[in-house]
Amino acid sequence: MKKINISRELFIRNRSRLVKELKPGAVAIISANDELTRSGDQNYPYRQNSDLFYLTGLEQEKCMLVLCPGHPDKNLREIVFTVKPDANVETWGGHQLTKQEIGKISGVQTVKWLDQFDLIIRDLIIQSEYVYLNSNEYVKYQTEVVYQSHRLICRLKDQFPLHHFERLAPILVTLRTIKQTEEINLIKEACSITDSAFRRVLKFVKPGVSEYEIEAEITHEFITKGARGHAYEPIIGSGKNAMILHYTENSETCKDGDLVLMDFGAEVGNYAADCSRTIPVNGKFTDRQKACYEAVLRVQKEAMKLYVPGNSCNDINKAVWKMMEKEMIVLGLFTENEVKKQNPDNPLYTKYLMHGVAHFIGLDVHDVGSKYQKLEKGMVITCEPGLYIKEEGIGIRIENDILVDNIPVDLMAHIPREIDEIEELMITNS
Ligand code: GLY
Ligand code: MN
Ligand code: MN
Repeated sequence: MKKINISRELFIRNRSRLVKELKPGAVAIISANDELTRSGDQNYPYRQNSDLFYLTGLEQEKCMLVLCPGHPDKNLREIVFTVKPDANVETWGGHQLTKQEIGKISGVQTVKWLDQFDLIIRDLIIQSEYVYLNSNEYVKYQTEVVYQSHRLICRLKDQFPLHHFERLAPILVTLRTIKQTEEINLIKEACSITDSAFRRVLKFVKPGVSEYEIEAEITHEFITKGARGHAYEPIIGSGKNAMILHYTENSETCKDGDLVLMDFGAEVGNYAADCSRTIPVNGKFTDRQKACYEAVLRVQKEAMKLYVPGNSCNDINKAVWKMMEKEMIVLGLFTENEVKKQNPDNPLYTKYLMHGVAHFIGLDVHDVGSKYQKLEKGMVITCEPGLYIKEEGIGIRIENDILVDNIPVDLMAHIPREIDEIEELMITNS
């Protein structure tokens, strides 16, 4: 896997932006994600906590970042705690970061071993009035697992019951939603590798190939082009499988006459691309598939104009649902009259488009940010209208990543989506 070096200036800037938002007399503690056991002594692939990565660039597990900007000892204002490298652990798992390396990656001057954490944190908390702690406040997040960040909250609240505890999440959400140049460049690189993978797939797909072979083509392109891999489990749904919104089995054979919906994105330097394309397995759309595809594409092009400061994802969702409703009438899925008489709590279009069409991307594919907040320049949001007609076996989604600006920037403008272009690029397969 190619190593991506991100300038520590980004992490230094992120910490200084965070510190500016803390109340005077504050200490903030951000912990790494746990390593999770798969079975026996095997772990799931490790993924750093996105907030800790945002503030340090560290990918190593068992790290803590502590910020105490008002501490009288300037060496204790910014500390990373980490595990002491252990020769036996390194024999099996490879190199563990030294203090110098942690300083170089993150720009944090003071690096201490984790076994000093309890003692030092006691000093810092006693010097402080407010203790800021992190937790996952993503609105759809649900888990039975008691993560490190939650264990820390419980432990410190128990040890220091007279302190004021504060949430870091609202501050970090505000910071992370506005992407800086380095972050936009990483997302652009992820989009560019995703483009290469799609072009490879266009040359590969024909009747008889399996969904998992398409996934393998994408994975091959991602890794060889320098991505870490997929930013999320890829969805390769042919025929009826395209109707399953988060289908990731990718186990079936693509049939002549069917469409195949692919939702895939590369991850570069921990930043995600999120792309969907729908193509005909045999390289040629039928008239009906064409009509449905053009409807979704028309709506996507109109919708992209809405990615300007002042709108919200919620506004975009509502506008797109309305546009798709009109297209559905033209496609004969229901009539204007039926819409007039529909139950407003269960509108007819939801049978054929049952998801939102805009979410934040960044360090996570479903990145932090609320659908109610007003868009601002520098946010990166998906635009992903879809149409799923079960009775006709037609499932279509077209998804591009858009940089919000007065004139929105389509970061996936280079990834083919016009019917002529797709058919032209697939022609050699027939
Ligand atoms: N890749 C999942 C989504 O588009 O939201
Ligand atoms: Mn998406
Ligand atoms: Mn997607």
